[in-house]
Amino acid sequence: MKKSARVLTEADVAIFRALRLEGLANNPEAFGASLAREQDRDDEHFREILRDDMVVGGFIDDKLVGMAGLRGNHHPKLAHKCHLWGVYVTEEHRGTGIAEIIVDAVIARAQAHYEIIHARVVSTNGRARRFFDRIGFKLYGVERRAIKVGPNYFDEEMRAKFLVV
Ligand SMILES: CC(C)(COP(=O)(O)OP(=O)(O)OC[C@H]1O[C@@H](n2cnc3c(N)ncnc32)[C@H](O)[C@@H]1OP(=O)(O)O)[C@@H](O)C(=O)NCCC(=O)NCCS
Repeated sequence: MKKSARVLTEADVAIFRALRLEGLANNPEAFGASLAREQDRDDEHFREILRDDMVVGGFIDDKLVGMAGLRGNHHPKLAHKCHLWGVYVTEEHRGTGIAEIIVDAVIARAQAHYEIIHARVVSTNGRARRFFDRIGFKLYGVERRAIKVGPNYFDEEMRAKFLVV
């Protein structure tokens, strides 16, 4: 089993779109974005994401099985911070270590530009919380009722990893 991670480019738009929509369909409770909105978007929308943000894809035997996005901040006073979003690994490849390979690749690239990486994790998502604990994203607050799906609210943990102490 060959595992690797690399930054996705516009040429990867088809596999990126498919994986992102799979994640929103399979784990809607894990993400702020919704399948209903994203599935109607054309390829240009997904190319724009790949241009504006950095998206790292995780590959097992050359097949895209996971991803994570990083969004920077253009405001000068906030430009030392970035946000990790859309961390997802297909169900059959969870527990293989590919999630950590992906996020490590994001962190390695973030280190050149940012001092702090923020992430948000839905409070009921035990597996993701364990994962973020392990890779050093520390809890600093909880936003109550951060996400509303129909009548149901979900709290979100706010976490940060300091790249420069
Ligand atoms: C979050 C995610 C990327 C982590 O990848 P992964 O391959 O599952 O991560 P790992 O197996 O390396 O680590 C997960 C941790 O949860 C533990 N775990 C495994 N199954 C679990 C379960 N059912 N419930 C709770 N914890 C579980 C693992 O033992 C591990 O803990 P450890 O580090 O203490 O050993 C992946 O689970 C995923 O894509 N989930 C769906 C989408 C999602 O929730 N994304 C996060 C958005 S913030």
